[in-house]
This record gives sequence, structure tokens and C-alpha cells, in this order.
Amino acid sequence: MLTHDTAFLFQQKIDNEIKIEPKDPMPQAYRKTNIRQISQHAHSEIVGMLPEANWISRAPSLKRKAILLAKVQDEAGHGLYLYAAAETLGIHRDEMINDLHSGTAKYSSIFNYPTLTWADIGAIGWLVDGAAILNQVALCRTSYGPYARALVRICKEESFHQRQGFDALLVLSKGTLQQKEMCQDAINRWWWPSLMMFGPRDSESTNNDQSIKWKIKRKTNDELRQSFVNMAAEQVKVLGMTLPDAALKWNEESKQYNFGEINWEEFWNVVKGKGPCNKQRLEARKKAHEEGTWVREAAIAYAEKKRLFTDTFKKGALEIA
Ligand SMILES: [Fe+2]
Ligand SMILES: [Fe+2]
Repeated sequence: MLTHDTAFLFQQKIDNEIKIEPKDPMPQAYRKTNIRQISQHAHSEIVGMLPEANWISRAPSLKRKAILLAKVQDEAGHGLYLYAAAETLGIHRDEMINDLHSGTAKYSSIFNYPTLTWADIGAIGWLVDGAAILNQVALCRTSYGPYARALVRICKEESFHQRQGFDALLVLSKGTLQQKEMCQDAINRWWWPSLMMFGPRDSESTNNDQSIKWKIKRKTNDELRQSFVNMAAEQVKVLGMTLPDAALKWNEESKQYNFGEINWEEFWNVVKGKGPCNKQRLEARKKAHEEGTWVREAAIAYAEKKRLFTDTFKKGALEIA
């Protein structure tokens, strides 16, 4: 428990835009919220590799394959920085992984949707990475130092992800009738789940107020969702495609796009584990973890061997001296 004075100083630091660092005193709830948010983010990066990795061997050209491979590897890197950032708050990576595998920890629901055609890879890059960037650019100024710093690098890579997705769709949108239809179909299927990525409405989001006060979150779910709609509604015109929302309309007064209602029933169902691929994704994760056991064991054995060698060498050096 922080004393009244320390709690006041903590808030004052945040108000003055001074980053909170791992060894600084912090309220228990601040630590817990950051652990939950950062680990959830790390899990999303790792689970997010699955629907896309599925297409690496089926990419339509060597160039597309190389690009997708690089992107999926970036996501693995993002997961690793983020697990490391969460560990600075006093949780071990094994515990986070166990929580993911047992279903206690969440990851972004968007990855519980299937990737049916090559155009889905484009739609994921454009819409899913696009939505992630909006969220993460805002988080580069989050109050917890290690998380904010990890996000600066992540955002640079995310913008490449969005570009490659849009570019893949642009090629399809200029292709044959079949390619155009494939492009539109992928946009139709990914649009609403992408809007759901911003989470529940502000009025139903339990952590919003405190997280904004602590600057863990810099913008609310609804604010971010609106910026995303404004951006995508313009970009889809370049593709010559449409967004599957009859209510989407420019509002001259608010200078924003009005848009239709999200299917909240579907949203909560997927969050609760009843999405099209929840089971499949968790099973794939667990299998990958089990198959990687030998790598972790080899790394531990190598570290131990190195430590023994260094110890022996130091001892020997001392004796000679
Ligand atoms: Fe990422
Ligand atoms: Fe990404």
C-alpha cells in the first residue's frame, strides 16, 4: 500500500508526464493493470502470427512470401519485447504463458476469425494492423516507461505491416473480376471484427476512467474507433471498394463519419471463447510451446555451460596471479 503522500506524488509524476520506471513505487492496481494490458498485448502478437503464418507457403509470389514472412517474424519480435516489458513489473514469462494456455489470459479476439483467401492477408494488414497502429501510437505516450519504449519500435514496424496489406489489396483491386470479388469479400468479413478490436463502448468499459487518469490509456475506445472509421472510409475509396455498412456517412457537422452499430452479441461471444477459431488457436499455441521444449532446454544447458566455464576460467586466472 502506498501512503497518502506517496500516492499523491505518484499521480503528480504522471500529471507531469514523468515516466514510471520498474523500481519506482506504484499502486498495486497500477502494476496489475499494466501486467494485464502488456501481457494481453504480448499474447495478441504471438497468437496473431497463426492466421497469417497459415498463408506463408501459399503466398502468390516469392516477393509476397518474403514480405509476409518478414511481417510474421516482426510479430514474434513484438511479443518478445512485450513479455520482457511485462517481466519488469515482477511477473515471470512462464506464468504469463501458462495463463494464456489455460484460457485465463485474453488475447485480441480478432485472431479468432479464419483466413479463408489470400485477400484476407491484405485485409488483415490494412485493417487489423491499421487498427492496432492507432491504438499503439497513442500508447507510445503511456505512463509506464518500458511499455512506452517498446511501443516506439513496434509502431515503426506496424506501419510497414499496414502498407504491405494495403498494397496487396490494391493489386487485387486492379486485377480480374475474380480478384476484385475476393478483395471485396475479405473487406466485408474483416471490417466489423476490426471495429470490435477497440473494445466495448466507453459506457461499458470498466477500466476506462482510472486508466485514463493514470495515463495507461491515452484515448478511449470510442475515440480510437472513430479515428479508425474516418481513416478507413477514405482509404477504401483508393481501392475502389466499399465498407459493408449502409449507415456509413460523412457528417458535415461533426466532421466525422457516422457508422452503424456493432453486433455486440458477436463481440461478447468471441471474447468468451465462442468465436470461430478460439479452440484451434489455443491448441496451436500449446502445441508450438510443447514442440519448443527442446529449444528452451538447450538454451538453459548452454547458459549453464557458459557459466561453469566462466567460473572455472576466473578461478584459474586468480590462481596464476
Ligand atoms: Fe505487432
Ligand atoms: Fe503487425
